[in-house]
Formats: sequence, structure tokens, C-alpha cells
Amino acid sequence: MGISIRKNRTGLRGEYSVPGDKSISHRAVMLGALSEGTTHISGFLNGADCTSTISCFRSMGVDIVYDGGTDVTVHGVGVHGLRAPADTLDCGNSGTTTRIISGLLSGQPFAARLTGDASIQKRPMKRIIEPLCLMGADIRSERDNGCAPLCISPARLKGISYMSPVASAQVKSCLLMAAMYAEGTTTVYEPVLSRNHTELMLKALGADITSGTDEETGRSYAALTPGHTLHSCDINVPGDISSAAYLIGAALIVPGSDILIKNVGVNPTRDGIIKVFKQMGGRIELMDTRTEAGETVADIHVQSSGLTGCDISGGIIPTLIDELPLIAVVAAHASGTTVIRDAAELKVKESDRIALVSANLKSMHADITATGDGFIINPSGDPLPLHGTVIEDAYDHRIAMSFAVAGLAAEGDTEIVHPECVSVSYPGFFEDLLTDK
Ligand code: S3P
Repeated sequence: MGISIRKNRTGLRGEYSVPGDKSISHRAVMLGALSEGTTHISGFLNGADCTSTISCFRSMGVDIVYDGGTDVTVHGVGVHGLRAPADTLDCGNSGTTTRIISGLLSGQPFAARLTGDASIQKRPMKRIIEPLCLMGADIRSERDNGCAPLCISPARLKGISYMSPVASAQVKSCLLMAAMYAEGTTTVYEPVLSRNHTELMLKALGADITSGTDEETGRSYAALTPGHTLHSCDINVPGDISSAAYLIGAALIVPGSDILIKNVGVNPTRDGIIKVFKQMGGRIELMDTRTEAGETVADIHVQSSGLTGCDISGGIIPTLIDELPLIAVVAAHASGTTVIRDAAELKVKESDRIALVSANLKSMHADITATGDGFIINPSGDPLPLHGTVIEDAYDHRIAMSFAVAGLAAEGDTEIVHPECVSVSYPGFFEDLLTDK
């Protein structure tokens, strides 16, 4: 059943906390499984994407104690301790699970098949198949269409030096996983630095990994040399900035708002949303900034603000890629033009987010033009009212959440048709958004 969102006339107020970071939760299970010893994870995201990762590793013989909360215990089997799954691995809706596990499977002494839901079966896997094949992997797309289901058989891997055409943490992490089973060093270069949680966690667990910027080309790189044992350590997952983003966006555009979001990960490869909203005039303050296990964490204070448009392109894009639908919604409330470029990746996320964001914002009477790699959003009136409508969410969590935020500042009702889709990353989202804390 759908959810109807009404205009919020009083503002969001109080102290919030958001579920654990999705990217870090995935990696904590994956790398905990490959470590020697027991990993206790706290703050784990109890969302469907991360539980898909848990079930894949359980299928490969890893004892994971988890009963649906935020604490997980992973009894690691070591880098060479995984066992052949009896069945196809089901990655659900999770691109991160599918791509990173493919790298890992490429180095195993057993064959495996993996797939996921209808959306996953349409997402591009050539970006991992090609470099994995260069490493010597035996991986193929079963329907020969460059998508899952993927069939992976045992092969001898060799380290490569690979320049990724896309700044993708999933591609980088996939290759670093395969690198643990390859002969020699694997170096992954990317056009601009994507989120670096895999590198940080591998370092913390004792892998031989270096990362930085290549002096000659200015490209970011991560290089892993295999052979080191990973030693388990306890992992405290901070709140997900990609989930906090919806509360931040809502507080900015709903007059009278004043909120504090506690314990949010603000790793510089993820904090583009804060930089952009501040540049637009958002009253956002990071408080009590601290570092925990290599990850930067802060409390975020947000007050409703008059916003102006801005240009968003280039190196900042990977640091806010998942937040762009929300940024488009917020930009529709700004007084100048916002131009978003270099974001063609949005077309191959859980849905074609360029098409859906622009169709939905148009139907709310915003002035938005979709381009090949982003959007142009102009002020749509004074005082910029959006109009409630029925949102086409295509079961994409980030579309549903972005337009729920839009609904808080729109005249009339906004209907989110498939609210349950938010459970992959932010169970409890509607409760957080619609109730004062
Ligand atoms: C993720 C990386 C990003 C992001 C996704 C999670 C990760 O995808 O969009 O939600 O955890 O590595 P790409 O690496 O494909 O850009």
C-alpha cells in the first residue's frame, strides 16, 4: 500500500539517528568473513541489501550470528576458507553485493552462480567482467548480455594494472577482492577517487594495500599485494550519510526546521552532499567531528535555509552520486539555476535516475530538463511551490525517499506508491521523516 505525504507546516525538530552505513556494513561482513578470528560488528544496517550479503556468505560456509538487529558476529574463515555454495547466490537488489562478491568468487577453487532481482539483472556487469577476465578470471554473463546471472569458475589469477573508465567503488572493490587471490600486485586506477571504505578496512585488518594519487597522471589508485592474513577487529559502523541526506534535505526546505543527526559517517569520499548544500546556502554545522577506525564521524546540525542554485560536476560527483536525486529535489526549492553534469552513472543505478527524477519533478510542476549526464533545474515560481502528485518510484529506494522529502514541501498530497522499497537501505525512513523526535 502506498504512503501519502502531506505538507509539513511546522518544521522538523529534534535529535535523530540514522541506520548504519550501507557500504561499510557490506564490507564489514565480507572482510570479517575473510579474516582469522571473530568480528563483532555494531551499528550494522539491518536493510535488505546488507542481509543479502550475510546470506551469500552463510551459503559459502561462514558462521554469522545475526538475528535482525544492529549487532552481527562473523566467525571468520580466513582468505582461503570459503566453501562452495550449494545453490545460486541471491544478491537481491544489491549491486554492491553482486559486484564485490564476483571479484571474490573469481579467486575461489569452486564454481558459483550469482544473480539478483529484476533490477540487478539489468545492471551493467561488463565493467567488472572485462577487468576480471584481464586478471585471468573465468566469469561469464549467462545470457551473454553483460548482466547477471553470472557464472564464475575456478581460474588462476594474475595481478594487473587497471585504469577503470568509471569512478566506481564497486568496480575498485571487486578487483581488490580478486587481487587477494592473484599472483603479484593489482593496481586499480580511477578517474577520480570513489568511496574508499574497502581500502580503509583492508588496511585496518592488516592487508598489504597502498592508496594515493599517481604523481604523473593525477589519478587515484589502490594497490594490493596478496599473501597477508587478515586479522579480525571489531567494527563500529557509523550512521549512513546517504540516509542522513534525506533528513538534511527535508530540514533545509521545510521552514521552521532545526534538527541534530547524531553519529553520521562523513568520510571525505562521501561528504559531497554537505559541501554542495553549504554552497547553496544551507545552514549545516558539523559537530564533535572524530575518527573511528579510519572513518570520520560527526553530528550534523541543520536549520531550514534560503537556498541558491549551484553548478555540480567533476570530481565531486562520486562523493554524492547516491544523493543526486535528493539534490535535484532540493534544487527545485532554490532561487537560482542548478546544473548537474558528469553524472551519466545515474542512468545505471537501481533505476534510470535521470529519467525518473526529471519525470517526477516535472509532474510536481518543477522546471527541470534532463540532459545526457545530469539535469538543469530552474526556479519554478515564487515562492517555488511544488505540487503533490503520484510518484513513479520504480521500486527504487532513493527515488521514493527523495520524493517523500519533496512531498513535505509541496502543496497537496504526494503519493509514494511502493514505500516498502526503502527497506534496502533505510528501514524506518517514513517514521523518521514524518514524526518529530
Ligand atoms: C557503493 C558504490 C556506489 C554507490 C552504491 C554503493 C559501494 O556505486 O552508488 O550505492 O558500496 O561501493 P558505484 O561504485 O557503482 O558508483
